[in-house]
Amino acid sequence: MSSPVTGVIHDLERILLTPEQIHARVREMAARLNAALAGKVVTVVALMDGGLFFVADLLRALELPVRLHTLSASSYQGGTATTGEVKVSWPADVDLRGQDVLLLDDILDTGLTLSVISERILAQQPASLRTCVLLSKRRQRLREVALEDAGFEIDDEFVVGYGMDYMGRFRNLPCIGILNPNKPS
Ligand code: IMP
Ligand code: MG
Repeated sequence: MSSPVTGVIHDLERILLTPEQIHARVREMAARLNAALAGKVVTVVALMDGGLFFVADLLRALELPVRLHTLSASSYQGGTATTGEVKVSWPADVDLRGQDVLLLDDILDTGLTLSVISERILAQQPASLRTCVLLSKRRQRLREVALEDAGFEIDDEFVVGYGMDYMGRFRNLPCIGILNPNKPS
């Protein structure tokens, strides 16, 4: 069976992070959280769809009791530049009061998404809030976000793969790559 990369590799300008690099770093992030949150029940608030594989891999490396809430947030509406408005579908039954919350997302870019969601979480008065992202872009933020951990700092380029999409495509790439500016067709 051919790898999912094979069919779309021509759409990538280059591979930024291999599956091995991603998995090693995600395991390190989980080890830090296992130490920091030892003895606690962790209430994870995970942003979909981009966080899908990061969350799945990180949670399976957590040696802690976990509750999981998934949220959908979007500001991009399919392109590569933020619209400045964040839409969040917040489940009605999420009560975070007194919980040790771990907020997870794929990538921190302008900071708008995580700042909007952090404010909503903090308004519910959790016992603690930690925010981790797999990728953090080196750029000026529109809103500052306090991070517990970021897997990788990357340049301000549009990335796809390992959950992240361009126009709904490329989420299932096991690596993270920079899109070829002349592609996809
Ligand atoms: P922010 O609100 O600008 O920080 O954007 C955060 C969200 O935008 C992330 O959760 C991603 O879904 C999306 N995003 C930002 N940069 C990229 C990228 O380079 N590739 C794919 N999605 C991105
Ligand atoms: Mg996202």
